[in-house]
Amino acid sequence: MAKLVINNRQCGKIEPEVYGHFSEHLGRCIYEGLYVGENSDIPNVNGMRTDVVSALREIDVPLLRWPGGCFADEYHWMDGIGPKESRKKMINTHWGGVVEDNSFGTHEFMELCRQLGCKTYVNGNVGSGTVQEMSEWVEYMTFNGVSPMADLRKKNGHEEPWKVDYFGVGNENWGCGGNMTPEYYANLYRRYQTYVRNYDPEKPIKKICGGPNVNDYHWTEEVMRVCFDHTPKEAHGFMDLLSLHYYTVPGDTWEKKGSATDFDEDVWYKTLGKALYMEELIKRHCAIIDLYDPQKRIGLSVDEWGNWFDCEPGTNPGFLYQQNTIRDALVAGVTLNIFNKHCDRVRLACIAQMVNVLQAVILTEGEKMIKTPTYHVFHMYRHHQGAQLLDSYLTDSGFTGTKEHTVPELNESVSEKDGVITVTVNNLSATESKELEIVLTDGAKYEVKEARVVAGGMKDYNTFEQPEVVQEKEFTAYKLEGNTCKATLPACSVTEIRFVKS
Ligand code: AHR
Repeated sequence: MAKLVINNRQCGKIEPEVYGHFSEHLGRCIYEGLYVGENSDIPNVNGMRTDVVSALREIDVPLLRWPGGCFADEYHWMDGIGPKESRKKMINTHWGGVVEDNSFGTHEFMELCRQLGCKTYVNGNVGSGTVQEMSEWVEYMTFNGVSPMADLRKKNGHEEPWKVDYFGVGNENWGCGGNMTPEYYANLYRRYQTYVRNYDPEKPIKKICGGPNVNDYHWTEEVMRVCFDHTPKEAHGFMDLLSLHYYTVPGDTWEKKGSATDFDEDVWYKTLGKALYMEELIKRHCAIIDLYDPQKRIGLSVDEWGNWFDCEPGTNPGFLYQQNTIRDALVAGVTLNIFNKHCDRVRLACIAQMVNVLQAVILTEGEKMIKTPTYHVFHMYRHHQGAQLLDSYLTDSGFTGTKEHTVPELNESVSEKDGVITVTVNNLSATESKELEIVLTDGAKYEVKEARVVAGGMKDYNTFEQPEVVQEKEFTAYKLEGNTCKATLPACSVTEIRFVKS
């Protein structure tokens, strides 16, 4: 029988920001999904959908990244402030060629984060913006004094500065953010970040340097070589985090990524295998970062991750709208476990994207809203936020799959917060349940505080007509004897068991 051994050794804090989200001006993520405007018939507070905000509050969203994505490097923030009727309209060239009326701008983003109670991650424009523009945006948002930008903010109705927790200096500058070489971007990064001023030393902005695409190790090497600040500093240096973007795409080409809902067992395992590749990427990029930063002063920010499938038939291909099945729940479960296990370096991550785009936690249709299987995984895993990772490992656990694609049967991580041990374990088999013995080795007596599961057939998903096909449910298939808990994990499942000392 497979065993999960848990040692009571703390291995570092899982930063809440690892459970972050991403919202881009793309398709129906911001407009319709999050923001409907004050005059909408859909219930809202200051334009933000009440139903969506309240569902998101239940998963304890720790951080939100905005405005892109590719959109960030075409975004000129001044277009999105001041009276809405006089804001510039533009074409969203990246995403469907639709009109962007800029009714959601800096003030609206900050209001959304206030309602969500989350930290702010603003992504600046390096690709088509100037240093002055970036510098003035930071001044507009964070300066508490007399200055042209602070005065403009006040004139636009916000007296107090906001807190910008994280600032991204460009996005994917190897691609949509300007097609730069790593050397060229790294030098621009040094220049632009200089003007991301910390006006309030009590609330320093953490700067995020644009990192690699997938397995572009040369990019990581060059950017670290040019940008890493070797001077030991109390506060922040040139960079606080380096980003990494990786999407799970089951198909072999971008033209044929694969359907979100129509797939066979082979594709199930292929997808999970590709999601597990995240671990190799983290290890290898971190090995390069370690050469420059053995003290782990900077973190890795996996600020775009998730499944990317063919968009739903009949929808605008530029809107990246896709359904979300139990397969998405498993991809979320294994990816978040990987992040937990690498919390020494992975200090921030954002699933792409929050609502109606790619692996969304929420889908909307007019006034209707549904929670996806991925939402339920984030709800269970919220207990890991801010917890201490515990040393844990699997033994006697094998592999599962088809002739073409095999993956480990199980995947886990364990953390402890306020005396509660949270175990999250995924059964990757599409067909077989799996017996697991969870052994708490510290000699103390434990009882189960709560146990939950998200499970179903591999292609199950929620629709607006049947919104509760996939739900988080109580998990009862376990027996605790002494310090060993024997559990039967259903096929295609993400399970959480929480233990407290009795
Ligand atoms: O999330 C969709 C897009 O994927 C983002 O705009 C871009 O950064 C990435 O390529």
